[in-house]
Amino acid sequence: MEKWSNFSRSDKLDGITVSEIIRIGIEANKLVTAGHDVVFLNAGEPDFPTPDNIKLSGIKAIIENKTRYTQLDGIPELKAAIKKKFLRENYLDCAVSEISVGPGAKQVLFNVFMATLNKGDEVIVPMPCWTSYFDIIRLAGGVPVAVTCEESNNFRITEQQLQKAITPRTRWLLLNSPSNPTGSVYGKEDLEALGQVLRQEQHVGVVSDDIYEHIIYKNAPYQTMADVCPDLKNRIVTINGVSKAYSMTGWRIGYAGAPQEIIAAMAVVQSQSSSNPCSISQNAAVEALEGPQETIALRQAAFCRRRDFTVAALNTLPWVSCKIPDGAFYAFANIKALLDQEDVKAKGIKNDKDLCSYLLHESKVAVVPGSCFGAEGYMRLSYATSDHLLKEALERIKVGISQLVGVSHIK
Ligand SMILES: Cc1ncc(COP(=O)(O)O)c(C=O)c1O
Repeated sequence: MEKWSNFSRSDKLDGITVSEIIRIGIEANKLVTAGHDVVFLNAGEPDFPTPDNIKLSGIKAIIENKTRYTQLDGIPELKAAIKKKFLRENYLDCAVSEISVGPGAKQVLFNVFMATLNKGDEVIVPMPCWTSYFDIIRLAGGVPVAVTCEESNNFRITEQQLQKAITPRTRWLLLNSPSNPTGSVYGKEDLEALGQVLRQEQHVGVVSDDIYEHIIYKNAPYQTMADVCPDLKNRIVTINGVSKAYSMTGWRIGYAGAPQEIIAAMAVVQSQSSSNPCSISQNAAVEALEGPQETIALRQAAFCRRRDFTVAALNTLPWVSCKIPDGAFYAFANIKALLDQEDVKAKGIKNDKDLCSYLLHESKVAVVPGSCFGAEGYMRLSYATSDHLLKEALERIKVGISQLVGVSHIK
């Protein structure tokens, strides 16, 4: 059939694309369909199944006919469970009216920015950052202001960088700790230093994306901005969800704790878009937050083992270096020196995208170039996959890179 001649994409989508990570996944799946055996290290989701107790509570919700529309931004039982979670784990005392539940942390982020940004309002985004932040902010009419964070400072924004980036149009600082893609974690002192700047800049709030809170390897307790700087609570939105901690990416439940007026504005956005999050998933999320929590520690231990293996294997590759991340389930390897090698350039590989494309097509391993996260010269490997597949993938990468630079360079 001919294409409809009157179709044109809305101007709102100018410069906005399908996430590069999703595109790489599609390309990798095409190879699978063509009969190739690809190892996927591109996705940002735990390979573990949702724990049985949570699955059963979802099934129970269906059997009990909890299948209708629910309250717009969360059933009372889930809001009560989130209230307890915030108090128990983050020392945040939120009223139920200060809590909002949406279909995934991503939608909750979208709700915050749609509800609070006017055209031209700025959001400071420490880079490297999760691929979606920029486009969500732009879709909401805002302007993402990238602040490049140094690897030598574990990719964290400093108070001086924050101060320099603030303008009269700044509305938010967007923090993500542990970070996707770098795995870096902001400690109490880092947050205190940033808070000190914000105390002088009263027009700037903080959106804290804590989605990887439970995937952390530091011995120190997890810290979030609203806990470290309670005096700034009236301008902090704390975002979290069940996707990563409870292996519930497909269930789509995220939530926020924030001042009541922000929560109310977010509810307006949700009421005219997705409406309530899935009733079944909300009931399952109650069990996730209220039921036994042992699997979190068990899975954390598995992720820690895989992290150590992955980082060690990456550091044996010539001209590749990888810092040990403190959280999340990504290794963020510096490949700048590798890309500088004449042998590599001679094979037509000019940048991180080319290298990742080479690894996908020649080594059959899907990884994501750092430029997708605003950091040219890196690649991100998700180690949220089985030990066996990780071993296979790292061996393939080693062979692939040795074919580029010569076997004698492999340590
Ligand atoms: C930093 C970050 N924030 C938010 C999300 C979205 O999480 P959810 O599945 O709850 O929408 C992701 C997912 O990859 C993420 O990496």
